[in-house]
Amino acid sequence: MENQTRIESDFLVIGGGIAGLMFALKAAEAGSVVVLTKASEADANTSYAQGGIASVWSVEDSFEAHIADTMRAGAGLCDRAAVETIVREGPLAVRDLIEIGTRFTKVEQGDGNEYDLGREGGHSFRRVLHAQDLTGREIMRALTEAVSSKPAIRVYEHHLALDLLVRSEPSGKKSCWGAYVLDRKTGQVKLFVARATLLATGGAGKVYLYTTNADIASGDGIAMAYRAGAAVGNLEFIQFHPTCLYHPMAKSFLISEALRGEGAILRLPNGERFMPRYHPDAELAPRDVVARAIDAEMKRHGLDMVYLDITHKPADFIRRRFPNIFARCLSFGVDITCQPIPVVPAAHYMCGGVITDLFGRTSIRRLYAAGEVAMTGLHGANRLASNSLLEAAVMARRAAFSAREEVRQDARCKLPDFPLWEPGRTINSDERVLITNSWDETRRVMWNYVGIVRSNERLARAHRRIALLQEEIRNYYGERVIDSDLVELRNLVTVADLIVRCAMWRKESRGLHYNIDYPYADDINYGRNSRIEEGA
Ligand code: FAD
Ligand code: SIN
Repeated sequence: MENQTRIESDFLVIGGGIAGLMFALKAAEAGSVVVLTKASEADANTSYAQGGIASVWSVEDSFEAHIADTMRAGAGLCDRAAVETIVREGPLAVRDLIEIGTRFTKVEQGDGNEYDLGREGGHSFRRVLHAQDLTGREIMRALTEAVSSKPAIRVYEHHLALDLLVRSEPSGKKSCWGAYVLDRKTGQVKLFVARATLLATGGAGKVYLYTTNADIASGDGIAMAYRAGAAVGNLEFIQFHPTCLYHPMAKSFLISEALRGEGAILRLPNGERFMPRYHPDAELAPRDVVARAIDAEMKRHGLDMVYLDITHKPADFIRRRFPNIFARCLSFGVDITCQPIPVVPAAHYMCGGVITDLFGRTSIRRLYAAGEVAMTGLHGANRLASNSLLEAAVMARRAAFSAREEVRQDARCKLPDFPLWEPGRTINSDERVLITNSWDETRRVMWNYVGIVRSNERLARAHRRIALLQEEIRNYYGERVIDSDLVELRNLVTVADLIVRCAMWRKESRGLHYNIDYPYADDINYGRNSRIEEGA
């Protein structure tokens, strides 16, 4: 049965970034695929990726070195099996991207077959494939072209998934059969029913006031999975990117770590270089160290920003290697070939997420997760630069292969019935100010109390404030006709609450989680992942 309000497919993919589209391409070889994106196709964090995708590519490099670098950054919480699998399958996933037409930058003086490999913090070798400084845009171009050539894949843009369709099985386990979805153009809520569902909704940077993330990053996948009863974890590990352009109009535009990989230096306004005081690898120390160092220097000197200086490199090299960053900074009046760039840290990446195994399976049957929404065990307490595109590409392939097997086993069975969305006795949302204020309040609370440096007092305060916001939004959600702002706000506050709860549980400092009341790592009590499951 299929009509305008019930759409059936073998595979439902919620999210159209690198994880969703890679999965869709592989799944389409075994059945019909529907891809949902809540905005236009290009609106995904993937589109903004600059530095590139880390993968062992040169003969000098080795899987062992990439594994060791990843484990070192993860501060004791990486899952060795996940790291081994994802690193070793990296080249396969990169080859897939090249085969569908991704044009990574090649070395200038080479034979035309050799890729230019970038360097970033924490990597002991050059191993980052990139397309100048617009890697994500190029990957998305290739993926969307490949997807549009597959008749088995239907893409629904501006379709916002609200909640997962979940049933309890006789065994007591839950299974997922798709989602309720809001068509943002018509306001209609539709049922998308499928034999296997992939969450590929990306991250939750918008939980913080300042973020590098795209507007879509409101943590919907984590909130939906949590409400459905899936296990989530390690949400205290929020990565703050050390260097975003400081300019009132720049909306936290990212200044890629690849600049530091090419020798850019962090300086105070008086020109002093400060990173060697914090770490032997100086500017190429792991991100948590660099972000905390900048935060400390800003607080110590009462600064609004520090500077990133690449002016000692030849101007034509800078313009060629970083054309996007050069042009964007110039549009804000900063010529990076001869002026240092004002920078500040901003929320960038969520290391935790919906817990999956190495086949992308969550704790709910038929529900898979891949990309930034998932927690596979690769990143542990801190992600190595450019390992997230790698993880998304590898795990989307693996999830697709295992979902194909699941779908193959019951391809002939009828899909179950679910009730249509019941709007209830709702009235139109007329008090927008309540929604916009709650957005703002959540993001400020998280920035001020659950940021780069935390304390018991700040976390307790955040916990109280977020609990109150959750209650208000719960009441509001029950009464009003839903729209995307309200849906995203509800998810944002749910994710904020989960982050705070994970952070309060971890009474130590490790990787990206730094609490001044427990400044050291406590391996005995906390050398493990945080985990939350509704009702558990
Ligand atoms: P995304 O690419 O964010 O896609 C999410 C998709 O989900 C979107 O299509 C969105 O519309 C959809 N969606 C979300 N919620 C819903 C919903 N409720 N209903 C329907 N659809 C929904 N990583 C690297 O490895 N290397 C880099 O160089 C790099 N640079 C970065 C630069 C920037 C500025 C940023 C922000 C991140 C960067 N990262 C980088 C991180 C990396 O880009 C992301 O982790 C990765 O792209 C996430 O891919 P994804 O497929 O999981 O999600
Ligand atoms: C960057 O280019 O600095 C971002 C890389 C990443 O987040 O992995």
